[in-house]
Amino acid sequence: MITTSELTFRYDEGDVALKNIQLDLNKGNIIGIIGVNGSGKSTLFMNMVGVLKPTSGAVLYNNEPIKYDKKSLRELRKKVGIVFQDPDKQIFYSKVYEDVAFALRNIGLDEDEIKRRVSASLKSVGAIEFKDKPVHFLSHGQKKRVAIASVLAMKNEVILFDEPTAGLDPKSVKAIAKIIVDISKLGTKVVISSHDMDLIYELCDYIYVLDKGSIICSGKTEEVFTEGDIMNEVGLAEPWLVKVHKNMHFPLFRKEEDLYVYFNEGGR
Ligand SMILES: Nc1ncnc2c1ncn2[C@@H]1O[C@H](COP(=O)(O)OP(=O)(O)OP(=O)(O)O)[C@@H](O)[C@H]1O
Ligand SMILES: [Mg+2]
Repeated sequence: MITTSELTFRYDEGDVALKNIQLDLNKGNIIGIIGVNGSGKSTLFMNMVGVLKPTSGAVLYNNEPIKYDKKSLRELRKKVGIVFQDPDKQIFYSKVYEDVAFALRNIGLDEDEIKRRVSASLKSVGAIEFKDKPVHFLSHGQKKRVAIASVLAMKNEVILFDEPTAGLDPKSVKAIAKIIVDISKLGTKVVISSHDMDLIYELCDYIYVLDKGSIICSGKTEEVFTEGDIMNEVGLAEPWLVKVHKNMHFPLFRKEEDLYVYFNEGGR
């Protein structure tokens, strides 16, 4: 599994974007990485998949520092997938089908298996109806869903989702949330960054809070959101169920439905 050891990263012409990051993906099954704009989330994700190389410190996979030659990176990509924040970074081919099939051909799967995987992953994100469309005809949200499909089709051990639901409509957000829960249940390790704290709270079991390139807090989801006032300190919103808990003295519920059941059963 991915860990990092004192990972520091500086862009060529910029300040230090990540400072001494100690991360351990063994800590949870769906891990949230949260922080305001510019706190370093995408930079951290790109270091974790070897797109960027730490200035000092290391990224490790199963306790071995990852290597940056082409062959090693290709092997790493079979295990670790990333959905980039910007879908235009992910999508290269003209037609949707070809785009999702591209990486699968690269790892040498036969065409029947490719067909099955492409159809299943496009269906799961609600993108099957535009499988024959040129990618540049799609809207931002549609491209985002295709980008997610192309990563799901790889069946990686770890998938990093950088802002997977930004710009998506509520129905698509729900679909992506369900996919994340489903793949996690099947054993895929998931890492998500998002500004949607309700989504993070609902999905994640462990959280890292990034602030100006440093991890300033980490722990189990309930603890990070309820102990102290860390969300206000870093400029993030509190999940609404946490607000209900703090301001109305309701128990802390993890799901909206749990609050309604409690209320309807006369818990208060
Ligand atoms: N290509 C680049 N060259 C130089 N500096 C960069 C580059 N990309 C990002 N940075 C800087 O690195 C820091 C972290 O940026 P990063 O994109 O990782 O933040 P983020 O947490 O993903 O933000 P957002 O929520 O807006 O996606 C910022 O200060 C940013 O200005
Ligand atoms: Mg980002």
